[in-house]
Amino acid sequence: MRSPHSLLPLPALLAAAVATLFAQTGQAPLPRIVQRDSRYALLVDGAPYLVLGAQVNNSSAWPAMLPKVWPAIEYIQANTVEIPVYWEQFEPEPDRFDYSTVDMLLSQAREHHVRLVLLWFGTWKNGSSHYMPLWMKRDPQRYPRLIGANGRRVDSPSPHAAATLAADKHALAGLMRHLKASDSRRTVIMVQVENEAGAYGSVRDYSAEAQKSFAGPVPPELLAALHKAASPTASWSAVFGADADEFFHAWSVAHFVGQVAAAGKAEYALPLYANAALRDPLKPGPPSTYESGGPTDNVIPIWKAAAPALDLLAPDIYQIDPARYLRALELYSRADNPLFVPETGNLPAGARFFFAALGHGAIGYAPFGIDYTGFSNAPLGAARMNEESLAPFALNYKLIGPMMREIASLNFEGKLQTAIEDNGEKEKHSQTLEFGPWKAVVSYGLPQFGPGNNPKGNAEPVGRALIAQLADNQFLAAGFFCRVDFQMIDAASGKQREFLRVDEGGYQGGAFKAIRIWSGDQTDWGLNFSSAPQVLRVTLGTY
Ligand code: DGJ
Repeated sequence: MRSPHSLLPLPALLAAAVATLFAQTGQAPLPRIVQRDSRYALLVDGAPYLVLGAQVNNSSAWPAMLPKVWPAIEYIQANTVEIPVYWEQFEPEPDRFDYSTVDMLLSQAREHHVRLVLLWFGTWKNGSSHYMPLWMKRDPQRYPRLIGANGRRVDSPSPHAAATLAADKHALAGLMRHLKASDSRRTVIMVQVENEAGAYGSVRDYSAEAQKSFAGPVPPELLAALHKAASPTASWSAVFGADADEFFHAWSVAHFVGQVAAAGKAEYALPLYANAALRDPLKPGPPSTYESGGPTDNVIPIWKAAAPALDLLAPDIYQIDPARYLRALELYSRADNPLFVPETGNLPAGARFFFAALGHGAIGYAPFGIDYTGFSNAPLGAARMNEESLAPFALNYKLIGPMMREIASLNFEGKLQTAIEDNGEKEKHSQTLEFGPWKAVVSYGLPQFGPGNNPKGNAEPVGRALIAQLADNQFLAAGFFCRVDFQMIDAASGKQREFLRVDEGGYQGGAFKAIRIWSGDQTDWGLNFSSAPQVLRVTLGTY
């Protein structure tokens, strides 16, 4: 017998199923990450979900600041807010947890109809330990910083400090236990463990503890994970040569973070991740020039082996050069790693990279510094945070927000491709995406009316397009500041493209609803996208 829900489209079905489950058990399904071939989806309420995120500034998660956070979140139309939980606030005295701020975040997020990704600012924050509680800062012998090669202390916590590890495990476990008890609606969908762990100022720790481990054997599980045929007693230097210092620190930090993550996950099994301060994706210098020990691209396999409780390793991408941005996306979208961009610069020219992230299968993305507290991290981001600087990001979410479930599903099924405008080289003003016998040609800088032989690029490189295959000859197309056309790949066949029907519309309750058919000037020169958020369902034929 068909269930009474089986005639409803997918999101309506989903909402009904979640409501039934919630009524029966008082619990929505746990968010989780699933894999199909080398693609991933983040399931929230049991179905693929795309994090249209916004990360607040570092010191904006205090109750007094929240009124300056929500207007920016509403303006950008994010569906998920990434917001810190400060260890110093959460555990003001040893083993006394203060849940008041977390509870306020949960209730205000629900009022604003957004989900949360909580950022655990624990032992590491950008390589230092500035969010440790006062009682830890006052006891640097017990919770030590690392020692550089010259014997001087470096402003970065030692991953070899047993007391720090125990305290961090205890605190994150306390946070996760509280979430489990107070968030049956799954307002929190993921937790970031630490923030950009690693060290600036020394490639590794040279404390007595660290020296002892460094002289000892490489852990067998790491040798096995890296397929290294080395003697079980071989030292770090013997196995890794010039990389030994960096790889040792990566293993040590990852092992620490992995144990903290495992302690949290044992309480409440939400997806967990760690974020990376990247090294230059095209020309990485020596490890002394970037944050050593964090999940930089060259040590992803070490982190995977050392921290299996983490579901993914995520790049914080502040590059504005497209070649570097795209390379960073490539490096972190791996068969063994779901792509998630938890931080990216909020410079308006960077908004198009959201499409690039989708094209690499991202489960989510979040520009950084989204609130009206008056802080700007220029030159990484815009000089002023206001509606004008946020407008290009708001446009992205306005377009994708109403169909984020469908986009996440199409991506999971491997049916979605994207294009973004490059920074001005002539040959890149037109790009081609291939779908079986069809190719979609995306061009930048053409007028909306007239032939398209010589695209010159937009005055600023803001063009972006998304094409998804719905059926053999049917596509979803959306974008800004570009022209999209379709051609048969096999030109020799002599078959020419015909737009059988181009519907403009959008998804409502899981089904595409058309509001008009495009034809005449709107299709005679291809499909021209301006600054208007428009979604097209394109049905193709040939003549
Ligand atoms: C990356 C860090 O993860 C963020 O918390 C922040 O410090 C930015 N850098 C810079 O604004």
